This record gives sequence, structure tokens and C-alpha cells, in this order.
Amino acid sequence: MNYKEYIRVIPDFPQPGIRFKDITTLTNNGAVYAAAINEIKQAVQNKQIDLIAGPEARGFIIGAPLAVSMGAGFVPIRKSGKLPGEVVEASYDLEYGKDKLTIHKDAIKPGQKVLIADDLLATGGTIATTINLIEQLGGEVVGAAFLIELGYLDGRSKLGNIDIFSLVTY
Ligand code: PRP
Repeated sequence: MNYKEYIRVIPDFPQPGIRFKDITTLTNNGAVYAAAINEIKQAVQNKQIDLIAGPEARGFIIGAPLAVSMGAGFVPIRKSGKLPGEVVEASYDLEYGKDKLTIHKDAIKPGQKVLIADDLLATGGTIATTINLIEQLGGEVVGAAFLIELGYLDGRSKLGNIDIFSLVTY
């Protein structure tokens, strides 16, 4: 499947110079969305996974269906002020802007194996911070899976040795 045909590229959003990869035109198509999730599943199903963690908001669009299809639990990584329980928090830089990510302190038990899922690997800041949060709780990050990787931003270099799978690379 050529998934790029279904990803709409919008120039100068949300800022001049950014070519935004809009996945809504892919997830709008049930068969293509299912095929994408299934292909990501095939790529990671050799790993032992207890939980899938996905960063707000687009990480939920990939992580939640992947978790259900693999029989794993889903852990939302949320922006500051959204989670109601006790949290661990970390700041990070985005491709455009800055933000804070949080995770519930009791979301992961020490030693649990966690796969990270998101729609997009860009600079890697979001996922580096997500790894930090998971590791603060004693979780073991067994890999990260993306619908899209922007290879020219080299986000991989921020993620250490973890196993990375991307369905589509620009
Ligand atoms: C986007 C995207 C990734 C992240 C990638 O999320 O969904 O999570 O940026 O960028 P990075 O690799 O440079 O960190 P965004 O923070 O825009 O939030 P959203 O999913 O709520 O739109």
C-alpha cells in the first residue's frame, strides 16, 4: 500500500516553512487506516509488550487501535493539566513551540515492557520526553512505532538505541 497517497501535505501550517503531514485524509478511509495499523502491528508483534504509550493527541489515533489489536493496555501521555491523578512531568521542545508532557505515576509498574506509538517522528523531542517519563516510572521501552518519520529532521538520533519502526518516511 502506498500510504503517502493518503497523507495530505499542507504547506505553511501551522507556521511558514512547515509542511504539515495531515493524517486525517488517511484515517478517513477505514480500509487504509486498518491496513496501516495492521502493518505497524506486524512490524512490532515479535516484541513482548505489556503496554503501549501514545502522546496526546495524534499518538492516541495510532496507539489506541494498535493496543486493542495487540491485546495490550494503552497509556495516554498527556499535555500538562489534563491528567486528574498524580503525575510525573517533563518539558520538551517541539518542531514548532514548547510544551510539557505528563504521565500518571501509577500508569506503569517497574519492569513493564512499553512500546511507544505516535503518528509522527519529527525532531524526536516528544518521544525523547516520553521515554524519559516511562523510564522515571521504571518501565522498559522496547521500541517506538510511527506512521510517519521525517528523516531529514533526524529525530532518531535523540532516541538512543531503541528499536524504531516507521511506516512511511519523508
Ligand atoms: C506532533 C506529533 C508528534 C510530535 C512530533 O504532536 O503528533 O507527537 O508533534 O514532533 P517532534 O518529533 O518534533 O517532537 P503535537 O505536539 O503537534 O500535538 P498534537 O498531536 O496534539 O497535534
